[in-house]
Formats: sequence, structure tokens, C-alpha cells
Amino acid sequence: MIQYVVSGPTRLYGECRVQGAKNSALPVLAASLLAQGESVFGRIPAISDVDATLEILKSLGCRIRFENGEARVDAADAAGTEIPDALMRELRSSVIFLGAILARFGSVRLSMPGGCEIGQRPIDLHLHAMRKLGAAVDDAGGRIVCTAPGGLTGADIRLSFPSVGATENVMIAAATAKGTTTVYNAAREPEISDLADCLNGMGASITGAGESTIVIEGVKKLRPARHTVLPDRIVAGTLLSAAAMTGGEITLRHVVPAHLGPVVEVLEQAGCRVESDLHTLHLVSPRRLRAVGHVRTMPYPGFPTDLQAIVTAALCTAAGTSVVTETIFESRFRYIGELTRFGAVIRTDGRMAVIEGVERLTPTGVAAPDLRGGAALLLAALAADGESVIANGELIERGYEDPAATFGALGAGIKREVCCENRGCENCGGGSEADA
Ligand code: EPZ
Repeated sequence: MIQYVVSGPTRLYGECRVQGAKNSALPVLAASLLAQGESVFGRIPAISDVDATLEILKSLGCRIRFENGEARVDAADAAGTEIPDALMRELRSSVIFLGAILARFGSVRLSMPGGCEIGQRPIDLHLHAMRKLGAAVDDAGGRIVCTAPGGLTGADIRLSFPSVGATENVMIAAATAKGTTTVYNAAREPEISDLADCLNGMGASITGAGESTIVIEGVKKLRPARHTVLPDRIVAGTLLSAAAMTGGEITLRHVVPAHLGPVVEVLEQAGCRVESDLHTLHLVSPRRLRAVGHVRTMPYPGFPTDLQAIVTAALCTAAGTSVVTETIFESRFRYIGELTRFGAVIRTDGRMAVIEGVERLTPTGVAAPDLRGGAALLLAALAADGESVIANGELIERGYEDPAATFGALGAGIKREVCCENRGCENCGGGSEADA
């Protein structure tokens, strides 16, 4: 079990180069299955979700090399069509392999990803899309078997919700389908455009990525990828919020400011000054943040659900009352109980959280409930007046590269500790399933 020991209060100062995007790395690594050769990916973050994704590729027969941010995947001899249950449990987003395995081999077997700490995570939109592309889908009894022995055929696919994962699975599956696929109400997240760029670099013919309608002209075959993933906008937003909450000043290098519009908007409303140029963001925070009106998470280009917990934490010490509403996942407030152990005053009512800002937070021991909730607790610990301990630190490491080095370089007093293995001991709290 991993725990982080944080000595606050810290005002974060300095500059930081933002890691590559987890939510780009996972789909482009899955897409490498479509080419019979070695693909090379740059700026792949050293996080446990990437490790799990590479394990799945290995289990399917790919040869893998991953060092210094470069991942090489040779899928020439890949043959597996089934994702092992243990790996499905470890990584909820492994459903992203559905389209790639089906397109490459004409059949795929996987267990239902199952719910996670932030919600049920259904995959009905993914399965509906595979059926539209001509696959036979049997999803009885918690296992999914999709077959398309004659290959997939392009179709019009209307998503009832702009699901990121379902949009990605369609792009990957339809890239080598016979004919044209049009996705209506597609997700518009930057990671969708990044995946399209990767697939087009492999020889696919995809237009409209980043908009609500994406057209995929099927091609015969794809060549291995050479792709560098975009910067992680959620990690960037986490670092900006950490500096804002602690009265600090930060410069982020290797970011795309346009991807952070809604987050910068909220931090400016809270009293921060933010300047940007092509690949840099600079934030100066006031001594104390002001409360903001109402933050509502929405599909991109709205405020990202993945930063909901982080901004809620930052607003805990703002002057005044803020309201945050989570519209995407049904149980993404599990971190709030832990935040109140720092002395935060937050009331929740369904998907709405009302945050009464307090002057200061008191140090305490908490346990991360999920990836982004854990990051929110880390921010609270940075602002708290003393030493705090955050258990289940491995959940934070699913999406953040070396948090101790990253925050330590900005002046934080933070230590990573490996504590006993037995779950639930009083030192390191219980364990918790991964979310995605
Ligand atoms: C991706 O998850 C991200 N994960 C999530 O990031 C992110 O929060 C989410 O998109 C929204 O932006 C990766 O990219 C690996 P969705 P995904 O399909 O694809 C419902 C993080 O912290 N839905 O857009 O699973 C679903 O229940 C993670 O980095 C269906 O109902 O998100 C949810 O309410 C967490 N049926 C909503 O859509 C489906 O078939 C959004 O889900 C699929 C989704």
C-alpha cells in the first residue's frame, strides 16, 4: 500500500513540464493492434494505467518496450482475442480494446468492465455501435462476445450521449471497415482529435474529429503508428488548482491553453491572474481565493468532470460559498467525506455540492477513494496547517506521474511511503478498486 505524507501549508512556486495525456495514451496504445508491425509512441506517461494497458497488449501477443516516455508496441504476432478478467478489473477503460481486437481478429471476448468508484460505467453505447457496424454481440451473463467473421461494415451511428470511450471505439473499429461510418453526437474532447491524428498517421481516413459529427472512410489496412500524445489537460488543471489554492505562482510548460479554457475561467473568477502563450500557462494566485458562482461539469468543451474534485478542493478555503454540480458520473463525490476531515464545510444534495469556504484546513489522515478524488485530497493536504497522510496513494499514481517529485519540485513537503500490505490496517486504511 502506498501513502503520501504531506507537510503543509505550502505555497507552490516554480515551473513544471506537464506529462503526456493518460486519456490519449490508452486509446492510441489500443489502436496499435490495428497494424502488423512496430508502432512508436512518444510522451507516454509513466503511470500505472499505462502499465496495465501495456500488460493487456502483452497478453494479446504484442512485444512491448517502454522507457523514458517512449512506448514501442510490435503487434505483428498478436493473436489473442480475449482480455483476462484480472486485467479487465484492474483497468475499467480496457473496454477501449473492444474495437481494436474486433477489427483486427473478427472476434473479441471480455468480461463486463463492472462499475467503479465513480459510477456504474455501462458500455451499452459501445455495444450498440459494434452492432451497427455489423458485429454479433452477446452480452449475457456478464461476459461480452462480439464476432464479425466477415469483417465490419460502415454505418451511421447516433450516440445518445457523447461518450468519449464509445466515440473512440467506433473510430478504431470503423477505420478498416468496409465503407463509410458517420458518428453523430460524437464526443469532442481533445483526446478524440489526438486519436484521429494517430489513426490518420497510420493511414486511416477520419475527418471531423473534435466536432459532433465524425466521418470515417474505411481503408484496407493500416501501417504502424508513429505518434506523440498531447499534454494532459487534467494534470495541468490539477497543478494550476494546487498553485491557486496555496496562494502560489506557477508556470506550466508543454500545455495547450485552449484545452483548459473552462478551468482557467473558473480560476480567474476565483481571483487568479492567468497568462498564456502557445504552449505555456502562467498563474499568479491571490493570497486567498474568492468563491465562484456555480461550476457545472459538462462534456467538452464544458468544464471537465475529471477536474470536479480538484476544483472543489481548491474552493474549500475560498472566501464565500461556491456550488459544484457533477452532471457526468453518478457517484463522483466520494472524496467529499474525506475532505471534511480536513475541516472543509461541504454539503451535498444529489449531484450538487455546496462549499462554504473556511479560513484554513487542519491536517488529518484520509484515504483516496479514486484517482481524481485522491488528487483533491493531496491539494487539501498541501494547504492544511501541519502533517497529513493520504492512504491508497496507488490510486493517485494511476494518472499522475511521480506526484512526490512533481509537487516536491514546486516546493511541497511531500513523501511517498510504502506501508504494510495487509489491507485495512489502521496505518494505511482500506483498499479501493480502480476507476478509469
Ligand atoms: C473517459 O471515460 C475518461 N477515461 C474519463 O477519465 C472521463 O471522466 C470521461 O471520459 C468523461 O470525460 C478515459 O479516457 C480512459 P464516457 P469514459 O463514456 O469513456 C455514460 C479519469 O479520471 N456512458 O464519456 O468511460 C457513463 O456512465 C477518467 O481520467 C453510458 O451510459 O467516459 C458516464 O455517465 C475517469 N453508456 C458518461 O456516459 C456507455 O456505453 C460519460 O462516460 C458509455 C458511457
